[in-house]
Amino acid sequence: MTPRTAKLKAFAKLNLGLRVLYKRPDGYHELRTVFQTISLADRLDVTFERARETRIEIEGTPEIPDNLVGKAARLVLEDLEIHASVVFRLRKRIPAGAGLGGGSSDAAAVLLALPVLAGENLAPERLAGLAAQLGSDVPFFLHGGTALGLGRGEELYPLPDRGATRRGATRALLIVPDVHSSTAEAYEELSPRLTSIALQNKLVGFQQEVWQPVGVAGVNDFEETMFALHPQLRRIKDRLRRCGADPAAMTGSGSAIFGIFQDQDHLERAKKQLASERIFAISFVSRPHYRAAWRRALKLHTKGDLWPPRSRYVR
Ligand code: C5P
Repeated sequence: MTPRTAKLKAFAKLNLGLRVLYKRPDGYHELRTVFQTISLADRLDVTFERARETRIEIEGTPEIPDNLVGKAARLVLEDLEIHASVVFRLRKRIPAGAGLGGGSSDAAAVLLALPVLAGENLAPERLAGLAAQLGSDVPFFLHGGTALGLGRGEELYPLPDRGATRRGATRALLIVPDVHSSTAEAYEELSPRLTSIALQNKLVGFQQEVWQPVGVAGVNDFEETMFALHPQLRRIKDRLRRCGADPAAMTGSGSAIFGIFQDQDHLERAKKQLASERIFAISFVSRPHYRAAWRRALKLHTKGDLWPPRSRYVR
């Protein structure tokens, strides 16, 4: 077999709303969130070849300790009970420690692509199981678009796409401050403040978030504790709001802050005013766009239009 190759795009996510309800007996926190894929993306090139022994190599800068790409590849090969030589070339565009799900998206990309290149089909529920083993945010990237996340974020329900409005794709600015947020530490900081009274209010408030037809509520329970630890984050949110963003909110456990703009003019003006920050202009990636990008990336190796993509090499 000659090596099979694919050039993948692993999109980042935002949490358009994120409510942390309580700490569960298993140590994870029960969440209600709305996930959204965005145009900012890592690039992951894969070369796959069956081999007698498994060898996984990750090229690219910077060196990432505990890279989820390698873990995901090992998990898929074990599950398929095959050996292969797999070389990844990872070009990071998604800042780490910012609540954008970069590592999780890279891992999901491996889960979607490797079975296709290997000539095996993995049932969707099996893929979802592997994804949840890799991290709470990984299962979302098997779907993309707009989705409601429950449990620790791994229980997903597709929502009507907020990716496209009548006037075009939803436009936003993303500011990535010089603060690296550790998810585990952010939960530890927040956990003692969770009360049963707040829980009721959050559940009611979250209903409104979910049923927003196009807009975004932008409530994130991590803001209070993260803003207290890093006051510059609040200042960024305030600046975005003053520039016309509605809403502006932190994503995940931080530290990136996004602002949604109603029109391109306001966005361009804000971009100029905030030029001193590390800033990205982004758009929402709808579920159809997400899947189309995947179909393009794996076109040579797939057949049909099913989701997740089906390998054309299955015997
Ligand atoms: O699932 P993931 O590996 O991304 O989670 C990293 C850490 O964040 C967990 O070990 C846990 O401490 C915390 N976490 C949590 N509740 C969640 C998700 C993550 O407490 N719903």
